[in-house]
Amino acid sequence: MLKGALFFSALAALAPIALAQKPLYAQCGGTGYSGDTTCVAGAVCTVVNQFYSQCLPGTVVPIPPVTPTPTQSVPVVIPTPTVPANPGLPPTPESGNPFQGYDLYLSPYYAEEVVAAAAQISDPTLKAKALKVKDIPTYIWFDVVRKTPDLGKYLADASNIQRATGRKQLVQIVVYDLPDRDCAAAASNGEFHLNDGGMAKYKNYVDLLVAEVRRYPDVRVVAVVEPDSLANLVTNMNVTKCRGAEAAYKEGVVYALRQLSSVGVYSYIDAGHAGWLGWKDNLAPSGRLFSQIYKDAGSSGFIRGIATNVANYNSLSTNNRDPITKDNDNWDEVRYINALSPLLRQNGWNAQFIVDQGRSGVQNIRQEWGNWCNVRGAGFGMRPTLSTPLSAIDAIVWVKPGGEADGTSDTSAVRYDTHCGKSDAHKPAPEAGTWFQEYFVALVQNANPPL
Ligand code: BGC
Repeated sequence: MLKGALFFSALAALAPIALAQKPLYAQCGGTGYSGDTTCVAGAVCTVVNQFYSQCLPGTVVPIPPVTPTPTQSVPVVIPTPTVPANPGLPPTPESGNPFQGYDLYLSPYYAEEVVAAAAQISDPTLKAKALKVKDIPTYIWFDVVRKTPDLGKYLADASNIQRATGRKQLVQIVVYDLPDRDCAAAASNGEFHLNDGGMAKYKNYVDLLVAEVRRYPDVRVVAVVEPDSLANLVTNMNVTKCRGAEAAYKEGVVYALRQLSSVGVYSYIDAGHAGWLGWKDNLAPSGRLFSQIYKDAGSSGFIRGIATNVANYNSLSTNNRDPITKDNDNWDEVRYINALSPLLRQNGWNAQFIVDQGRSGVQNIRQEWGNWCNVRGAGFGMRPTLSTPLSAIDAIVWVKPGGEADGTSDTSAVRYDTHCGKSDAHKPAPEAGTWFQEYFVALVQNANPPL
């Protein structure tokens, strides 16, 4: 597992117990951090990203630490195909729903997080409910280049399961590492920067993912491509960083789509949610932008459509609208999709959709629709299914791994975003993508339908 692969400091973790040790899931390192770097017994200080190391369940393996330096070059493509891909022939897209007829592969990374989280819960009923979450298929995020080799491990695993069971496996991934990522916010700022060769590094990151996929042509892969990126181009051109990133986001997304299509990955481009691009003034420019990207990427049948509500909290479909949605006729994801879909078609793209419902179980919990960070009171939502309210929706999915934070509430952190300090945000919260135990427990307790 990746989490176990990099240790903040194996030596530090072996230091005498006399040092104050940090509890499980506490921060133990990262940019700007000056506290203790040791964890209590049974936990290891693990580098999650350059900003954050966290005490995660596990025991210390005495290997030398691998400490990336800012000048370190990103890995180079090396894999040799173990299974030769169709010699010379590019894969051909199928016209139907790419999820149909496949089992959704369970993320071992998420399962490990959930099992460790459940171990911390003493109430047996709640623990049993928490454990059920590990069997709910959830997307695997590739949010840093060093995680890319893990895709090969998951695909090999899925391929073995497929051979052993005779049931076709589908691995769900999120491609999320654009340069100057999360341009209108701070919480998920990424590792690549446009002023530092970020575009070349991004293309290399995509190539590494694609090289892994190429080795396992027998396993189907579905990707959500770059959450929030193109949506920012529709509404946040007043933000300097977004304006500066416009050309790069387009180039990066088009590159990712082309490369993923070349190895038969079915892609859904992220298009925000009802409360973002679903507003009347934002719909037409969105229709134009997403269709243009589809065409620029070669109009491949592998570019299957659009993903909505990723990591958000909106209802799929409700007649009982949340008061915060007033003034927007598209107050849920079905309404948003019904509004966007004809605009895409007008512009030449007959797109299908998938909708994240992982954390949409409870409604009417936000003070403003634009609040997205660790919203208090959220619950796990509708389970992934191909039984959807619109033929335009291929699947209801869980994209955001519930229990991983949206952003830190530590006001002194480099990636602190004021949304994570709002009164409806659950606090204290750790860095984006790291485990947030209390939030996970709340998602389990508030799950709707119940676990
Ligand atoms: C974070 C990523 C993380 C993803 C899934 C994003 O908000 O920036 O690091 O992988 O959420 O939890």
